[in-house]
Amino acid sequence: MKDIKAIFDNLDKKLEAVAKRNHNKLPYTTVDGVYDNKYETDVCWWTNGFYPGLMWVMYNATKKDCYKEAARAAQKLLKEAFNNRDGLHHDVGFMWYLSEGSDYILTGDKSARDTALYAADMLAARFNLKGGFIRAWNEENGLKRDTWTIIDCMMNIPLLYWASKEIDDERYALIAKAHADMAMGDHVRDNGSTNHICIHDNEDRSLSETLGGQGLKVGSCWSRGNAWAIYGFAQSFLHTNEKKYLDTAVKCADYFIDKVEKTNWIAPSDFDQGDEHWIIDTSAGAIAACGMVEIWKATGNAKYRDAAINIIKATAEKYCDWDIERDGVVMYGSEAYNTNSIHKHLVYADYYFAECVALLLGNSRTN
Ligand code: GLY
Repeated sequence: MKDIKAIFDNLDKKLEAVAKRNHNKLPYTTVDGVYDNKYETDVCWWTNGFYPGLMWVMYNATKKDCYKEAARAAQKLLKEAFNNRDGLHHDVGFMWYLSEGSDYILTGDKSARDTALYAADMLAARFNLKGGFIRAWNEENGLKRDTWTIIDCMMNIPLLYWASKEIDDERYALIAKAHADMAMGDHVRDNGSTNHICIHDNEDRSLSETLGGQGLKVGSCWSRGNAWAIYGFAQSFLHTNEKKYLDTAVKCADYFIDKVEKTNWIAPSDFDQGDEHWIIDTSAGAIAACGMVEIWKATGNAKYRDAAINIIKATAEKYCDWDIERDGVVMYGSEAYNTNSIHKHLVYADYYFAECVALLLGNSRTN
């Protein structure tokens, strides 16, 4: 792990400088090496918990106060999102489990616990009793979207597993498991690839249509969606100990590894894209690598540890900006295949990159 420790030391050097100069922002990306600020433009934006979350990953590994202070300052801004209920969505899981949830887990802060539990209540309230799944988004432009689910939600439901244990109420975990079971059947295909968006029949809960979403097209496999499945099912296994979730994580990881070992461990935006328009997405690798570390720890199979290390090293060597004067670490993330918003810094790529390095060094949030 010498190389991984060296990557961690670079992260700490850079992020300490970042933490000390950024106290009034909820960053999403960088413009010319400077964080933008979603607090000013969209406080409900789905990625707004990742910057405080990143600060907690670094705090857990170093215990430096600058990280705790930066996380708490960002959380204060993020709380204003609760004033816009209609602007919120299923990503309240990402937003508050990684921010205030981490704060509580790492420091025992009572108000952080309350905030994370409020978010869990909001996520649980999105459960569709008839369909047995969590609704992803709200109505938009006349499109109701009340029976739409997206694979990304596998990474929101850990908030529910945590809430269940925290207040000793099994309802939250039952909702999470019902959703995971739906995703196992409807989002994950037999070969371990994934559907991004599923639309369900409102009466019999069957799958009526799939959409390509942020991937290339209907039926293709968007790499970040596949990564959400790998880490999401691994997390469902960690919280429930149910082997079917680990098996699903392994199936998706095998698919991902088979693809990226042919592309020097850097994922394309969509695994079915052609050479004529080759887009990469570094965030997909960082997320998937976290799931692979958990699979390695659960199975003892070094294939998954080695794949995670290969992804992290390839990303660190080719796509990280280590200049401490500039914000943002992992470059070349892509929002979606069919967009111009590609090959840019994305705050969640930094979050999962740092989380994977911390996991490999034995510094996960709960240990
Ligand atoms: N959850 C949206 C995305 O991964 O871009």
